[in-house]
Amino acid sequence: MLSLKTLLYTLLTASSVIANPVPARDPSSIQFVHEENKKRYYDYDNGALGEPIRGVNIGGWLVLEPYITPSLFETFRTNDNNDDGIPVDEYHYCQYLGKDLAKSRLQSHWSTFYQEQDFANIASQGFNLVRIPIGYWAFETLDNDPYVSGLQEAYLDQAIGWARNSSLKVWVDLHGAAGSQNGFDNSGLRDSYEFLEDSNLAVTTKALNYILEKYSAEEYLDTVIGIELINEPLGPVLDMDKMKNNYLAPAYDYLRNTIKSDQIVIIHDAFQQFNYWDDFMTETDGYWGVTIDHHHYQVFNSSQLESSMDEHIKVACQWGTGVLDEAHWTVCGEFAAALTDCTKWLNSVGFGARYDGSWVNGDETSTYIGSCANNDDITSWSEQRKENTRRYVEAQLDAFEMRGGWIIWCYKTETSLEWDVQRLMYNGLFPQPLTDRQYPNQCNTTSS
Ligand SMILES: *[C@@H]1O[C@H](CO)[C@@H](O)[C@H](O)[C@H]1NC(C)=O
Ligand SMILES: *[C@@H]1O[C@H](CO)[C@@H](O)[C@H](O)[C@H]1NC(C)=O
Ligand SMILES: *[C@@H]1O[C@H](CO)[C@@H](O)[C@H](O)[C@H]1NC(C)=O
Repeated sequence: MLSLKTLLYTLLTASSVIANPVPARDPSSIQFVHEENKKRYYDYDNGALGEPIRGVNIGGWLVLEPYITPSLFETFRTNDNNDDGIPVDEYHYCQYLGKDLAKSRLQSHWSTFYQEQDFANIASQGFNLVRIPIGYWAFETLDNDPYVSGLQEAYLDQAIGWARNSSLKVWVDLHGAAGSQNGFDNSGLRDSYEFLEDSNLAVTTKALNYILEKYSAEEYLDTVIGIELINEPLGPVLDMDKMKNNYLAPAYDYLRNTIKSDQIVIIHDAFQQFNYWDDFMTETDGYWGVTIDHHHYQVFNSSQLESSMDEHIKVACQWGTGVLDEAHWTVCGEFAAALTDCTKWLNSVGFGARYDGSWVNGDETSTYIGSCANNDDITSWSEQRKENTRRYVEAQLDAFEMRGGWIIWCYKTETSLEWDVQRLMYNGLFPQPLTDRQYPNQCNTTSS
């Protein structure tokens, strides 16, 4: 089923090829506005109050991902040569351990992987927002769910408190739906696509409504400036009309008309082309405070991995120009520094990397592009690779700051270098301060 992942990233890449990009805006005129306790929205032209979102994702914390915290999953290893017996996602992690053991291991993970000092560091490095993924099972469960439930919320609340103390804003991101909205391991349950099945939809909606009500209340509005209704629903395999009519629209209605809150609603693009959402929940139709979240990567398809640096940069810049005339405010809620898929389990437990030809999924294999050996060891990186990575990061930041800004995936990992902002920064592969540029104006956004 993982070929679906290939399919969607194909669509994702295809969607970034824009025939006639509209002229780039002067980034200094592009601002992020937050008017506390009033009608709040991201204002495109009013420059006075803010700056683009420059954020980090708190990945692999309240929703497990094997590649972010491999130590939690390696304890299951029985065979040095394959991944047999290793749980592929949080659902199976909990199922294999049973609730009591899962609970104690997860609590020790939740209480250590992120702490107050991390949030203070994030703020001192110049970021202004954290996006925090959480699964429906933190709040509600299906009858026979193996998940540990009811405990994540206190950690989320504590993290919001840390954010407030550090003057960081927060997006609360519902990252896993009952039955899974995309079949990715990061939805909690891999290879399942049953999000819109009625009983699943009811449970997810219950969890979402709870999140909407709680985190749109007065006491949170100073810090929580957006709630993402569902992360990465796999548009190509879901009934988009059903998702819009039976999930997204009711959530908006609940927020604005039942709770009567002005909280910002964030809708992930569902891997659709730029401008796809231009006629859904528009201001013209009386909706407001709706932001579209686009995610962008270039490592989940062999031809992307084979691209030259100039091609990588060109695609990254098109991610910026592609959204300039979208109807809604828009932010890139996920992207990465990675130019390979070498990090162990990035493609999920049991799958290798396309980059070094070790990818196997049924009959599907990949052709060697380069070596993944010592990928997490910076001393094994050539100067060229370091330059390429820094250049790619900077082009993306420039592209995303043409409009609402960016949130990189992710702030920390146990062992990966390419997916860990702290390590990238430490090794000079990520700008500090965030506006520093070793490769200025790659997207030609400023006129000379
Ligand atoms: C990868 O993406 C490119 C660009 O969208 C596309 O042309 C190509 O067919 C994709 N390759 C695979 C194997 O899906
Ligand atoms: C925020 O800072 C105050 C004052 O230092 C402290 O008492 C409080 O515990 C902090 N909040 C959190 C959630 O850590
Ligand atoms: C920016 O301009 C230079 C010089 O004209 C050109 O080579 C390059 O391709 C342009 N970059 C983009 C992303 O358009």
